[in-house]
Amino acid sequence: MDACLSSEQRSQHLQEAPCTPDGCSAPEGAPREEDTGGPPGGSNKIEPSLHSLQQFVPTDYESYTQEHYLFAGTKIVIQESIESYGAVVWPGATALCQYLEEHSEELNLQDAKILEIGAGPGLVSIVASILGAQVTATDLPDVLGNLQYNLLKNTLKRTAHLPEVRELVWGESLEQRFPRSSFHYDYVLASDVVYHHYFLDKLLATMAHLCQPGTVLLWANKFRFSTDYEFLDKFKQVFDTTLLAEFPEASVKIFQGILKWD
Ligand SMILES: C[S@@+](CC[C@H](N)C(=O)[O-])C[C@H]1O[C@@H](n2cnc3c(N)ncnc32)[C@H](O)[C@@H]1O
Repeated sequence: MDACLSSEQRSQHLQEAPCTPDGCSAPEGAPREEDTGGPPGGSNKIEPSLHSLQQFVPTDYESYTQEHYLFAGTKIVIQESIESYGAVVWPGATALCQYLEEHSEELNLQDAKILEIGAGPGLVSIVASILGAQVTATDLPDVLGNLQYNLLKNTLKRTAHLPEVRELVWGESLEQRFPRSSFHYDYVLASDVVYHHYFLDKLLATMAHLCQPGTVLLWANKFRFSTDYEFLDKFKQVFDTTLLAEFPEASVKIFQGILKWD
């Protein structure tokens, strides 16, 4: 698996990222992702179909719960698990969904080509699909099964374009897997991908790689630590940056980034 983190890297990643959507100390004794293996799935590219919906039904039901959302007039059910940070909806995701819903016409989302990085359980990609976009949802291999499950469950027969799921590990094999000559996105979406982890430089490089002239990056984040603001400073060096919205009660800000070309 060319783009996988080793279990050592992954363990390091989880230990250095002790945040949960509501705070920053993971539940004591919560299993680590490499202990559980995560939901089934994790191939490079997963073709959406009824068959794959059945294939990706999580098997360890005890650790799963369902959360209900209403966006764009549509009820959305998200399967979450405490076993992975990538299987829980974070505050940046709900803020970004609200922003997409309220600005879908001016963003011209109908048939827009969108890639989401660090999609987690998939709420943002689902809402973008319901709003008419052609979505590719990406994340680490371990969470792709649950992501695929949620996407299909909420978009099958409901959207013009079925979202696609692909593995994308920040900073890994970007040109091989997402060559700039063949991929062009209208929007790159990212919610709560910046927290206390070792991959911030790779994340920024990935954001830059995926953006071309005409691409708009929409990044929603809960700001907690000085490191979040340090990332924002670096982000501003690479992207022309506009603050689009603030949700003070959740400490979430949404930024638009347009890659600087000089
Ligand atoms: C805090 S969660 C946010 C999930 C989702 N975007 C949301 O807001 O609900 C961060 C996401 O980034 C993904 N992630 C973390 N490190 C990554 C890496 N090195 N490469 C790709 N994805 C990564 C995690 O798997 C997880 O889905």
